[in-house]
Amino acid sequence: MDCLAFWRSHLNILSGTLAGCLCTCSCQRRRAGAISNVVWNYSNVGDTILTHDWYWTPYSTICKETGRYLETFDLLYEEMKFNLNSFSSKVKNLLAKQDYLVIILNSPNHNPTGYSISDSEWDEIIDLIVEEAKDLTKTITLVIDIAYIDYTKDPVSARSFMEKFGTLPSNIVIELARKTTWACPVDVRASLKGIL
Ligand SMILES: Cc1ncc(COP(=O)(O)O)c(C=O)c1O
Repeated sequence: MDCLAFWRSHLNILSGTLAGCLCTCSCQRRRAGAISNVVWNYSNVGDTILTHDWYWTPYSTICKETGRYLETFDLLYEEMKFNLNSFSSKVKNLLAKQDYLVIILNSPNHNPTGYSISDSEWDEIIDLIVEEAKDLTKTITLVIDIAYIDYTKDPVSARSFMEKFGTLPSNIVIELARKTTWACPVDVRASLKGIL
């Protein structure tokens, strides 16, 4: 399977295209490698990476190894809903201090809670980062760790949130980190217009 086939396997089920959105397919043998590459390439030494308070601990190892800090926001509030207030205040604080912000979100089937960001929560998250990205001196990279996407009840509809990335500005980079059984030596960054 080549990189385009990888993308198609995720995206050709979708009705929309991702025209205008810069997407990176990190074709690493392991997700940890994909996440590490993004942290290395889309932030500076000394920057802080943002993730949720419940997280797969190698995220912090990756940050240590690459000379970054890791900060967390509260993932959930009492009704098992995405805590947009906590997320928003951390995003704003970090962007006030640094020009490159890498955010790691593990969904669907977050480890360890099993929580999945809903479509309406994705809309709120995207609205927020689009608003912040109006400052063109900033680059926001959203790494979505979809490690467990194929263990959801319906792995096809679990991919529907990807449709939302079609109209993002070019200073927002989306990365899907997924386990693959193959290795590809390069990251493929493509405007997906024309390849779907
Ligand atoms: C949330 C999460 N992301 C990534 C990984 C690691 O994936 P890989 O083994 O492909 O590096 C794990 C493995 O347990 C995980 O729980």
